[in-house]
Amino acid sequence: MQDEIFHAPPAFAAQAAVDADRRRLMEQAASARPEQFWLEQAGRIAWASPPTIASASDFTGDVAIRWFADGTLNASISCLDRHLATRPDQVALIWEGQDGQSERLTYAALHERVCRMANVLRTLGVGRGDRVAVHLPLVADSVVAMLACARVGAVHVVLFGGFSAEALADRLADSGAIVAITADEARRGAKRVPLKAMMDEALARTDAHAVRALLVLRVTGAEIVMQPGRDYALAPLLAQAAADCPAETMSAEDPLFVLYTSGSTGKPKGMVHATGGYMVWAAFTHDLVFDHRPDDVFWCTADVAWITGHSYVVYGPLANGGTILLFEGLPSHPAPGRWWQVIARHRVTTFYTAPTAIRALMREGDDVVARHDLSSLRLLGSVGEPISPDAWLWFHDVVGQGRCPVVDTWWQTETGGIMIAPLPASVPQKPGSATLPLPGVHSVLLTDKGAVIAGEGEGCLCMAQSWPGQARTIWGDHARFRQTYFSFAPGYYFSGDGARRDSDGYYWITGRVDDVINVSGHRIGSAEIEDAVATDHRFAECAAVGIAHDLKGQGLVVFAVPRDGTADGLAGHATQAIVRVVGRYAAPETIYLVPDLPKTRSGKIVRRLLRKIAGHELDGLGDLSTLADPSVVDRLVDAVARQG
Ligand code: WTA
Repeated sequence: MQDEIFHAPPAFAAQAAVDADRRRLMEQAASARPEQFWLEQAGRIAWASPPTIASASDFTGDVAIRWFADGTLNASISCLDRHLATRPDQVALIWEGQDGQSERLTYAALHERVCRMANVLRTLGVGRGDRVAVHLPLVADSVVAMLACARVGAVHVVLFGGFSAEALADRLADSGAIVAITADEARRGAKRVPLKAMMDEALARTDAHAVRALLVLRVTGAEIVMQPGRDYALAPLLAQAAADCPAETMSAEDPLFVLYTSGSTGKPKGMVHATGGYMVWAAFTHDLVFDHRPDDVFWCTADVAWITGHSYVVYGPLANGGTILLFEGLPSHPAPGRWWQVIARHRVTTFYTAPTAIRALMREGDDVVARHDLSSLRLLGSVGEPISPDAWLWFHDVVGQGRCPVVDTWWQTETGGIMIAPLPASVPQKPGSATLPLPGVHSVLLTDKGAVIAGEGEGCLCMAQSWPGQARTIWGDHARFRQTYFSFAPGYYFSGDGARRDSDGYYWITGRVDDVINVSGHRIGSAEIEDAVATDHRFAECAAVGIAHDLKGQGLVVFAVPRDGTADGLAGHATQAIVRVVGRYAAPETIYLVPDLPKTRSGKIVRRLLRKIAGHELDGLGDLSTLADPSVVDRLVDAVARQG
C-alpha cells in the first residue's frame, strides 16, 4: 500500500520560515562547513563571550563530547534578560490551574520572580555547580525554580511528583543536592499528592543525602509538618528577596542540569546536559520544528520533570522569546474536553503532546472536540512513543481540522532535543513516520553486528556524529555512559531504539530494542521493576516485560516466582513493592505468579518468550532448544492461562 503523504496546507506554507529550498541550504551548510554552521546556530542564544570553536567531540576511546567549549554564558539571560529590551510586556508564561485559576507573567514579571528565587538560593549558600532538587507541581514556580538555579550557576535536578519516597531518596543521594524545593501538595484530578510528606520520608530514609535546606511552596494549603532548622516557607523568603539578581557567568560545558532516566540495567542514570550546547539545541530545534513565530502560544503538555518539559516547556520557547502555556490538570478532569477548553481559552497556536494522550482523547469522541473553538491552532506535535497512523490521522483531521501540519518528533532524554522530525513546511508528512533527521543530524541504521545499512532497511538507530544537545555523561559514572551508549558499535551513539528507513529515507521508529518499557510515554527500566520486586523476600525472582496496550502504548507485565507456593494476595505484594520503590506510575498491568522463568543455559532470562506468553501469542514461540529447560514453557503457559 502506498503511504499517504501530507504536504503543508498552502496557508501554513506561505507563512513558514523554512521552505524546501531553505532546508536544503541548511543541510548543505551543515555538511559542507559544520564548524561555521554550528557557530552560526550558536548565535541563537545570548553569550557573555561567544564561542570560537564548535565541536570537539569524540565517540571513541574515553568518549568526550564538547561543544562551544570556549564560550561563556548564563542560560537565564537567554530566556529572560535579553527579551527585556524588546518584549518586556509580552506574556512569557500563562499558567492555568486544574480548577480554572490562572496567572499570566510578562517577561518583566518572570524575570523578577526568577531573580527573587535566585536570591533566596544564594542566601542559602547555593552557588556554581551545586545541585538543587526541584520537586514541584506544574505551577509557574516550577519554571521559576529551574531558571533561578541556572541564574546562580546551580545544576537543577527536577524530580517527578509521581516518584516514591525511595526513588526520591536515591536521586537525592546520587546527585548530592544540597537544597530541595517542594510544595505542600500537588493536585491530580480529585486526588492530592502529598509532595512535602514524600520529601520528608525521602530525607528520613537515607543519611547519604546532602540536603541541608528544604524550601516549601504553598499550593493547596494542606497541613504539613515543618522541621525547624531545615524547612523554610518559600513565600516570605521570596517577598524579602531583592528583585534583581546578577547572573553567574558559566562556561559552555558547565552542567545546566541533571535529569534521571531509566535504562534497561541498573539504577536510573542522571543524564548531564551542558549549558551552551543544550541551550543552542533547545532554541534551534524549537524554532525549526515548531516554525516559531513571535505571536505563538506554545503548549507542550509534558511535566517539567521530563526532558520534554525541560526543552519545550522551558528552555526552547523562552530562549526564542515565545509565550508558553503551563496547564496543571489532566486531559479529562473534571470532564472530557478540558484540554480543548484550555486551547480555546488561551488561543493556543501550537499544541505538542504524546500519543498516549491522543489515544485517550480520541476515545472520548469527535463531538467532544467539536464543541470547542480550536481555530487558533496552526501546528500539532507528537512525542514520546510511536504514533500509529490512525491516531496521527485523527489528530490531523479532527483536532487540526486538516489545517495544521503534524510533526512527529523522535528524540530522547539523552539527545536533549528533537533529532528526527519534519520541518513542517518543507518535509511532507507520512502518518506514523518521524520523517527525516534535522539538518546537521547524522542518523544511521546499523545491523545487530554494527554494520551500516545503506538505503532502505531496518536496524538499530544510531548517530554517527555528535550534536550540540547531546548529553555529556552520566552523573558520577562516565564508564557507564561509555558502556551504555558507545559500546554497541565503536564510534557510534546507540539510541536503544529500532527503526525502519523507507525508500524516501523516512524513518519509522519501531520501539526499543533493549529492555526499556515505555508506558504512557514514561520510560521504565525492566531492571528497576525487578529490583523492586526483589526487595520483597517472598519472591525468589521475577522478570518485567512490556506488551502492546491500546491506550498506554505498552503495558507492564511482571512474571514473579514465589519462594514457597502461591498464597492469596501475593501478587498484590509485588505491586506494592513496585509502588514503594519506584512510584505509582509504574504499577504493573498484570502480575503472573509462575513456578519458573525461561532461561538460557547461561542463566539469561529469555524475555522474548515472556512477551509472547504475556501477549497470548502462543503460536510463534519459536526455537526453544536454547532453553536450559524447555519444559518450563508449558508450566508457564498453564500458570498464565489459570490466572487469566
Ligand atoms: C521513545 C522523550 C517513537 C523512544 C522525548 C525513545 C519515540 C524514548 C518518539 C525516549 C517518537 C520518543 N516515535 N518513539 N516520536 N519519541 N520515543 O527519554 O523509544 O523520555 O528512545 O524522551 O521514547 O524517551 P525519553
